[in-house]
Amino acid sequence: MAELFAAVEIISAKRDRNELTDPQIDWVIDAYTRGAVADEQMSALLMAILLNGMNSREISRWTDAMIKSGERMEWSALSRPTVDKHSTGGVGDKITLPLAPLVAACGGAVPQLSGRGLGHTGGTLDKLESIPGWRAALSNDEMLHVLKECGAVICAAGAGLAPADKKLYALRDVTATVEAIPLIASSIMSKKIAEGTSALILDVKTGNGAFMSDPAKARELAKVMVELGTRAGVKTRALVTAMDVPLGLTAGNALEVRESIEVLAGGGPADVVKLTLILAREMLDAAGIKPLMDPADALKNGAAMDSWRQMISLQGGDPDAALPIAKEKMEVKATQDGEMISMDAMKVGVAAWRLGAGRSRQGETVQAGAGIEIHAKPGEQVKAGQIIYTLHTDESPRFERALESLDNSFKVSSTGEKADRLPLILEKIEA
Ligand code: URA
Repeated sequence: MAELFAAVEIISAKRDRNELTDPQIDWVIDAYTRGAVADEQMSALLMAILLNGMNSREISRWTDAMIKSGERMEWSALSRPTVDKHSTGGVGDKITLPLAPLVAACGGAVPQLSGRGLGHTGGTLDKLESIPGWRAALSNDEMLHVLKECGAVICAAGAGLAPADKKLYALRDVTATVEAIPLIASSIMSKKIAEGTSALILDVKTGNGAFMSDPAKARELAKVMVELGTRAGVKTRALVTAMDVPLGLTAGNALEVRESIEVLAGGGPADVVKLTLILAREMLDAAGIKPLMDPADALKNGAAMDSWRQMISLQGGDPDAALPIAKEKMEVKATQDGEMISMDAMKVGVAAWRLGAGRSRQGETVQAGAGIEIHAKPGEQVKAGQIIYTLHTDESPRFERALESLDNSFKVSSTGEKADRLPLILEKIEA
């Protein structure tokens, strides 16, 4: 059958800063997904979009076309409203782990489709896979079963969900076209809308450890995503949050699971607890759920922990199993007394990755025990000789490259200089 358009016409239209029409967008996404548009043609179009942008109609149509490339899940069999959270990713961002069971304990149903880490930010699935027996790959029926039983499921998106995004994302990764707001927004929102959640809270990170280090760009991305979700009938809100320093005190798979369990047990670092509670309250409110209990109480009284244990067990994991520990560790000490004034999140993320916690190519295995434990955060006083961070890895030759990344990333000042941190929440964006 003859094709409706020639890819080259669509590429030249965007190259010359023209708007793409709805039929052009529908065709190019469909034709690329079925292999009728070549990778080199789509690469050229993606670069033209990165350079020349898309207006809100084009972004919305592009997102719809990506949703239509695959299945759309639906959860009408559930008695509770569905609500999800998506983070644009950051260092030590383990919030999904305590948050999903917490919201379940308070009365929501959280169908969380997550990804694996690539580069300096960790992936939720890699973290959970450090729990012995836990399975990320669930069928749609298994997902529904876990959701019905405990109110939260965290698993991998199946091949049927937004297949256009899977191809496009892999291509963007190797053509320097990831960093375009229309492409990021459509990629994230096509998957979240296809996932079938009725409400969604977006955690858009900003600061040097985030995708969008510039707060103005993070705000713009948040606005575009809120508009896309709202147009699709999903009650969507966004918080722009800090990623100038790592969240919590750990970066690395099993290390972050351990910290999440501390939060579920009523303890854990203050920033992780605070952000978890803020996001839980937003999720419950956006979904119109009258909470069964206050989220802070659910962390203290064991209800969130019960949901976590049930969710892990239903996905084949043993919530009582010991978590993996790396074979080697190295402690790094402060060389002078003073205040910790800065801690570069990006450098910490790269160091955790170099220790073996992350991957540089799709499909690589990650080390469950690798990563960094932080013992002093910006704003805290340290003494010369005090351990400020501990590196963990199974392969000691990795220490050197990790230390190179961390060189000058933790700064201690004895001159009265103060830590200058972003506020945890910079802004809230609603439709
Ligand atoms: N996460 C996604 O799913 N897509 C992007 O484009 C960026 C982050």
